[in-house]
Amino acid sequence: MIPWELLGSAKVPGGGGELRLYRRGKEFSVRVNRTELMNSSAHGSEDALAGLVCTKISGRPLPRLLIGGLGMGYTLAAALRLLGPNASVVVAELVPELVVWNRGPLAALAGHPLEDTRVKVCEADVARLLRTERTAYDAILLDVDNGPEGLTRQDNDWLYSRPGLDAAFAALRPGGVLAVWSAGPNTAFSRRLKQTGFKVEEVRVRARGPRGGGHHTIWISERVS
Ligand SMILES: C[S@@+](CC[C@H](N)C(=O)[O-])C[C@H]1O[C@@H](n2cnc3c(N)ncnc32)[C@H](O)[C@@H]1O
Repeated sequence: MIPWELLGSAKVPGGGGELRLYRRGKEFSVRVNRTELMNSSAHGSEDALAGLVCTKISGRPLPRLLIGGLGMGYTLAAALRLLGPNASVVVAELVPELVVWNRGPLAALAGHPLEDTRVKVCEADVARLLRTERTAYDAILLDVDNGPEGLTRQDNDWLYSRPGLDAAFAALRPGGVLAVWSAGPNTAFSRRLKQTGFKVEEVRVRARGPRGGGHHTIWISERVS
């Protein structure tokens, strides 16, 4: 068995502990406080997050997307494969080192998505963008954590709270879509999405896509007005 090699570590801004990047042969792992946040061998649900959104917004002439959480770049790469040349994608990433790793050892995993000219990286808390932008996006994709129950940092709870959902609703264009990734279902969060005014669909997806694996949850919520 090849041992894991530590490639780098980074403090999570806002008191969320430490992120660590490991490699074992061709496999990469990002861990937060010893719990695995991402593994390069399973990204079916991260791809599905982009696929479900792009199906919903297909036909929009100049689609503009906000992706919260770069991770290993799989959601971003899947969106870029499905979007046309007129699309633009803002990626908000809280941990600057993640961006450096995605330009370095992780770059080839998802096919160098940061080199795509449709992409703009914003090294910031995605909450900051949601708090300030109005009717700016056709879709907002949130995969910043393990889901509404959080893992990376406590401040992320705001994103899943009613004020956070109100901000996401306001940041979307009419007919726009908020998509949220989660390790599992969460009844209270589904209810909050509906109370915010979204038309909500809850989709179960597989961690390894067609190859199976565990089940994850994605909420696809449409701003109908
Ligand atoms: C599970 S990973 C995302 C995986 C990604 N969907 C992919 O396909 O690789 C979560 C990412 O969100 C970032 N993150 C956590 N909280 C954030 C926040 N509030 N704003 C922006 N990025 C955040 C983490 O640093 C990490 O890069």
